Amino acid sequence: MYLSIFLALAATALAAPSLETRQSSQKITIDLTKKYQTIDGFGFSAAFQRANLIVNLKEPKQTEVLDLLFNTTSGAGFSIVRNGIGSSKTSQNDWMNTILPNCPSTPDGTPEYKWDGKDSGQLWLSQKAWSYGVRTFYANAWSAPGCMKTNGNDANGGQLCGVTGTSCKSGSWVSAYAAYLVKHILLYASSGVAITHIGFLNEPDMSTSYASMQSSGTQAADVIKTLRPALDRANLSSVGINCCDATGWGIAGQHASQLSAAGALPMLYAVTSHEYTSRISGPLSTRSRAWQTEYSDLNGRWSTAWYSNGGSGDGFTWANTIYNGVVNANLSAYIFWEGVQDRATNNNNNEKLILVDGQGYEVSKRLWAFAQWRVVRPGAVRVGVSGGTNLKSAGFVNSDGSVAVVIINSAANSQTTSISLTGSALVSPSVRAWATDNTHDMSETAVTVGSDGAASASVSERGMISFLFAPTVGNATAGSA
Ligand SMILES: *[C@@H]1O[C@H](CO)[C@@H](O)[C@H](O)[C@H]1NC(C)=O
Ligand SMILES: *[C@@H]1O[C@H](CO)[C@@H](O)[C@H](O)[C@H]1NC(C)=O
Ligand SMILES: *[C@@H]1O[C@H](CO)[C@@H](O)[C@H](O)[C@H]1NC(C)=O
Ligand SMILES: *[C@@H]1O[C@H](CO)[C@@H](O)[C@H](O)[C@H]1NC(C)=O
Repeated sequence: MYLSIFLALAATALAAPSLETRQSSQKITIDLTKKYQTIDGFGFSAAFQRANLIVNLKEPKQTEVLDLLFNTTSGAGFSIVRNGIGSSKTSQNDWMNTILPNCPSTPDGTPEYKWDGKDSGQLWLSQKAWSYGVRTFYANAWSAPGCMKTNGNDANGGQLCGVTGTSCKSGSWVSAYAAYLVKHILLYASSGVAITHIGFLNEPDMSTSYASMQSSGTQAADVIKTLRPALDRANLSSVGINCCDATGWGIAGQHASQLSAAGALPMLYAVTSHEYTSRISGPLSTRSRAWQTEYSDLNGRWSTAWYSNGGSGDGFTWANTIYNGVVNANLSAYIFWEGVQDRATNNNNNEKLILVDGQGYEVSKRLWAFAQWRVVRPGAVRVGVSGGTNLKSAGFVNSDGSVAVVIINSAANSQTTSISLTGSALVSPSVRAWATDNTHDMSETAVTVGSDGAASASVSERGMISFLFAPTVGNATAGSA
């Protein structure tokens, strides 16, 4: 008893702001009456056989890595998995194999699908994600099978036979490609995983030596107009079509206007983009949702640092990258590139959140930058925020009425933040906060609630803090926020 009181006091003393920072308490107001975009979630991919790195881990490490990725109380609490739909004939190297290694001789012939029940480890990972409560699965093809394309190869660019501007001796494969994508979704459904979003292009503005298929937004619209009714006929009307996973924001802007001009926007769920060739700079001019579906630091050496002078693999840099997309571009989803990767595959760089090598693993602070967003659950609506110097703040109301506030302290000194809510139906909410910095990983931190209801906590220099104002058990009115 004595010991636990002592520990509680010691913890309070540690977490209490110094006199100096207390004087410069920063008042931030969350205004629930101002509503912006709806959030679909945060996620990562395990495409290119990376899922198998987790499949092959022995316990307890396998569960530890799954918890780091999906656990909403001890890990990043990711809510989206982006799977690659394979187009290669084999799983040689790190290729993803297709369910249609050989096409019928004509587009209207009967396809012989071959399902291996593994999908490069991604089905297993998706089933695990499902068990943690993940309900958003983005299945994304890098290319159609080669036999449907102008170049007869799933790699090296080429286009889908049948879209505007192509002419193939074998005819149009657009309907066959739509049927193939529908089959993929049905195979997952029969294994207990409901795919919610489908994409049929990846970086279509580029030709690569691995799976790639080129397309403009106009050509993509041809596919969407066939795929949408094909999904509906298969009782998959709830599956959203995403397009077109451009290499960068500038290209995504072109896709958005081409899709709109071609009349495909009403059939689209989200315009999707990566951030490699151009970074996110403000909202896309589109009425559909926007998702950032792949980005990472491909060049830096493997780093687990939170802050090392703003390096592109730093956790702190990623905190700002996600914030920029969600707040300055109204993104509904931010998806990192690889969740896990080994040391050898790609120059030991930062394109992964967790380095899984044989039976060992190392966690980067990038994962903890994402974890700070786990208080924002799918279905949350971003709301208004004001106040705070050298603080980047974002506010959200979750669908259960709880209010999430995510804050980055850009200052080189610690600051005390004081959060007030306006327009919230929460009655004396319980408030908790978690922080990440050089020495903490989404660690729970002390919160003081004043008589005015403002919740205060200290955030360290170049640190991040997330608050959750939750309905107090027994006060049902809170749910109506
Ligand atoms: C995007 O967010 C900005 C403020 O950050 C807001 O002014 C704008 O209305 C938002 N747009 C949409 C479509 O939500
Ligand atoms: C998440 O982690 C907590 C704490 O380690 C654990 O009690 C819980 O069972 C985990 N949740 C799932 C779904 O595995
Ligand atoms: C279509 O889906 C609904 C629920 O989404 C289900 O109740 C119904 O049985 C399905 N019909 C067919 C033909 O699969
Ligand atoms: C519910 O809200 C009231 C204020 O309206 C508060 O006095 C009471 O303590 C709350 N109940 C619980 C269980 O927290």
